[in-house]
Order: sequence, then structure tokens, then C-alpha cells
Amino acid sequence: MASSSAFNLFLLSIAFFSLSCLSASLASSTKSQPFILPIKKDPSTNLFYTSLGIGTPRQNFNLVIDVAGENLWYDCDKNYNSSSYIPINCNTKTCPFIGCTGCNGPYKPGCTNNTCPANTFNTFAEYLFGGGLGEDFIYISQEKITGLLTACVETDSFSSFNPLTGLPKGTKGIIGLANSQLALPTQLASSNNLPPKFSLCLPSSNNLGFTNLVVKDVSKFVFQTTPLIVNPVATGPVSEEGVASKEYFIDVKSVKIDGHVLNLKPSLLSIDNKGNGGTKISTTTPFTELESTVYKTFIRDFFKKASDRRLKKVASVEPFEACFDSNTIGNSWPTIDLVLQGGVQWTIHGANSIIIAKKNVACLAFVDGGTEPRMSFVKASIVIGGYQLQDNLLEFDLASSKLSFSSSLLLQNETCSHS
Ligand SMILES: *[C@@H]1O[C@H](CO)[C@@H](O)[C@H](O)[C@H]1NC(C)=O
Ligand SMILES: *[C@@H]1O[C@H](CO)[C@@H](O)[C@H](O)[C@H]1NC(C)=O
Ligand SMILES: *[C@@H]1O[C@H](CO)[C@@H](O)[C@H](O)[C@H]1NC(C)=O
Repeated sequence: MASSSAFNLFLLSIAFFSLSCLSASLASSTKSQPFILPIKKDPSTNLFYTSLGIGTPRQNFNLVIDVAGENLWYDCDKNYNSSSYIPINCNTKTCPFIGCTGCNGPYKPGCTNNTCPANTFNTFAEYLFGGGLGEDFIYISQEKITGLLTACVETDSFSSFNPLTGLPKGTKGIIGLANSQLALPTQLASSNNLPPKFSLCLPSSNNLGFTNLVVKDVSKFVFQTTPLIVNPVATGPVSEEGVASKEYFIDVKSVKIDGHVLNLKPSLLSIDNKGNGGTKISTTTPFTELESTVYKTFIRDFFKKASDRRLKKVASVEPFEACFDSNTIGNSWPTIDLVLQGGVQWTIHGANSIIIAKKNVACLAFVDGGTEPRMSFVKASIVIGGYQLQDNLLEFDLASSKLSFSSSLLLQNETCSHS
């Protein structure tokens, strides 16, 4: 908001969450049709975004999809002045956070007094930005929805830092799909009296994917199911004592390349008492990142299996290390399996692991994630990224804490294109 740099919060460490009273305030909508948003992939950042309408007059916003994002936030720049915007008053039951934000004016969305604060987090920006919580019309597939809470941030008010840093050109915020009260799937499920469950089908570059924010019917695709794990330690940029992470973790028990189990210390794959380790799903990580120790073993074994298959190694192409002469691949490429809790396997085939990095060079689309966390206090060992998720249908069932996944839809002669 315009008033001050006080909203330039970096790694705040206060516990200010109390979300229990939020759902009562949501207006209920009578329709219960699916809320489907189209998804496109931005070729220059490899991030995914959707488009929805907000406010009066309706303005369309391209918003980046972030499964770790806790709310929907958008850019209330100086030209934006929706007449249907209602700021949420601080110190009311609807406001899940402690404190109030204010602004010197003139009044507009993003510049209001006595407003409930809301964080606008972007993993690519170096800071956590403060915005205001508000309510306005949201348009999803031509349907006008009322009563949804979103965060609005006046980006013009931050002189040297921009909350939109690193996001694709033309995108104006983030739609968060995390396991949190302010995420749209949670709000929509609550206002429609449905259990929170959403699906996500990220497109490859020449495809149009979708997310269905409220899923009721069983899909026609073949699924496997694994529990969603709760990391008991907050994994966002705010350290909150005793508050669990709202991100989606799954329990990878082992990793296989061509059926051979990688020799990884089991402690690396589980979540320790500080919240480090484990495997999470991230749509803002373009390529799966493996913590350095895991990565070294993974790459060494991949090279070995590639050599068994007589793939010809060529010079690396940043940020990828394992690169091969694409003419030597044919139909032969090592298969990667994530062995999950419940005995199921997430198989990653070539379509989700080969990237043509330049002419005649095919690389393994996994990267070294280093040892240090980014914009967080904790670090996951495996971060499953967008390239490995695309053309895989995922269903996140928050009521029963389960993730259903299809593995590559291409094997079922399908893609994420929504018909
Ligand atoms: C925004 O619109 C309101 C009326 O809806 C008006 O009072 C206010 O001055 C406008 N703000 C700006 C910055 O134009
Ligand atoms: C907020 O309150 C201050 C102090 O009363 C006032 O100067 C300012 O104009 C108000 N801001 C808005 C957006 O109304
Ligand atoms: C997919 O299509 C191919 C070629 O058209 C066919 O041979 C194969 O049986 C199909 N697979 C499935 C699962 O439908």
C-alpha cells in the first residue's frame, strides 16, 4: 500500500495467524458447477499462468499458478480503481491476521485505511510484500462470484522493489492453491458446501491446460493415490512458531533409475524436526530440483544407466548437466520412478525428463537445487517442478489429504488440453 516502507517486510518472524473464524464470513453461491480456469505456459520463464476477471469494470488479470501460494493476490496499480472493491476491516472476525494497514490516499483498492493486512508472496522477489485483504467480484468461466477474499497490492508504491519480479511478462499477480483458508479452492469449497478438492493439469508449451478449483466427479483417467504429508514446520518466508506448512508434500520412499534404487540416506528423504528434507510439489520451480547430496547420486546413476543404453554423452548445457547426442537416443532413455508411500510409483518418462536444450542435444531436465533454501527457513530434498508435472493430471484432496496422479497422460493418449 502506498503509505510506507513499513510494508516491505522481509522474513518477519511473528506468529499472527488465526484462521478459524474465516469461513463463516463467506457468502454462499448457489451454483455448484465446476470452476475451471485455463492454464498457459510462458515459454521464457517456464512458469504457468491463468486468467480471470476481477472488479468493476471487470478487468482481466493473468495470474501465475502457485500450488504453494496461500492466497490470490493481484496488482492494484495506480490506474486500477474497481468500484465494487470492499476492503476488509482489520479487527473484525473476517480478518484472519493481527494488525491493520493504512494509506495516505487517495482512496482506491490497495490504498485504504484500517484494512486487514495480507501478504503478497512471490518466491522470485527478494521480499515479502504487504497488501490489503479485500472482497470483489471474481469472474471464472463467465460466472460472477461474490464473497471471495483476495489480496491487493499497489505495486507502484514500492519504489525499488517490485512484487511482480520474476513473473512472466503480462502477469499481474499469483493465484495460490495451497492448503490454506485464503486459497481459492478452499474458499470455493467452503462457500459451496463441498469438501476442498481441486485438480491441476499443467500444459506443455504447445498445449492449453486447466485447473478445476472444485472437483466433485471421479475423473475418467487412471489414477494412483498417495497421502499428502504435512510438514509440521512452516515453509514460507514467515517463521511461525507451531504453524504447519501449507505446501503439499508427498512421501518419496526411494528413487529408481531404470529399476535400480538410488543409494540415498533415508533421512534425506524424510522431513526432520526442523522441517528440512522431504519432497514437495512446486509449480514455480520450472525443473525438478534435488538437494545437492541427492542430486550427485542421482546424476551419477543416471549417467551409468545412460551409458548402459549407449547414449552418447555431450557437453552440458546450463542449467542441465546430463546431456546427450539426441541422435543416439531413439526410443531409449532411462525411466525414473519415485516410489511413494502406499507402494505406488510415480513414473517419469522421457516426455517429462528429456529437454532439447539445443540442436541435437537432449538433456535430463533435473537441476541441482543446492543446499540452501530460497525465501524460506527450510529446504526440501526434492522439489518436483513444472516440467515433471506437465501433462500429468493431479488431484489434491485436502479433506482426505490425498494426492491422486495420473503419471504422463500421453501414455493414455491424452494431454492436459481441456476438451
Ligand atoms: C476511486 O473511486 C472512488 C469512487 O468509487 C473515488 O472516490 C476515488 O477518488 C477514486 N480514487 C482514485 C485514486 O481515483
Ligand atoms: C487514512 O487516514 C489518514 C489519517 O486520518 C488520512 O490522512 C488519509 O487520507 C486516509 N487515507 C485514505 C485512503 O482515506
Ligand atoms: C494410443 O494410441 C496408439 C496409436 O494410435 C495405440 O497404438 C495405443 O494402443 C493407444 N493407447 C491407449 C492406452 O489408448
